[in-house]
Amino acid sequence: MTAPAPAAPQAPDSHSLHEWLHHWQDESDAAYLYSELAAQEPDPGKQEIYRQLASVERRHTELWAKLLSENGRPVAVAPPPSAKARVMAWLGRRFGPRYLLPLLLREEGREVKGYMDLHSASQPARWRASPAEAPSRGIGPRPADSCVTSYTASTTA
Ligand SMILES: [Fe+2]
Repeated sequence: MTAPAPAAPQAPDSHSLHEWLHHWQDESDAAYLYSELAAQEPDPGKQEIYRQLASVERRHTELWAKLLSENGRPVAVAPPPSAKARVMAWLGRRFGPRYLLPLLLREEGREVKGYMDLHSASQPARWRASPAEAPSRGIGPRPADSCVTSYTASTTA
């Protein structure tokens, strides 16, 4: 008896590609804004945290670019900052990092929710109906892995 052949991977539909492009842009915007925060922050310790967060976001951007490219939608490693990110950066320069940081954290919260929704939508319907049956239960991303909670933990300690 031979093992069944694995199912051929499905090409992402246009909705998925659109979602992935959105995440690619969001990650790049986050990298840009953390770099802006690092440039505006007078505290050297916080500067370093923001630089590290920018680096993490650049890696996320690269992962989305790789995924898009592997699925027939080649893109640059990183897009230029969106108009929204440029406005947020301007507000940060005008009013300071204490103004920009809450805006950025709110964006990060939306990003994490988007990833949770993406993860949930990628599960087979029977696992969504009965999560206890899902083999990935407990293995997927945890809230502690998110950028927001990493940042919060490192700056509130
Ligand atoms: Fe990210």
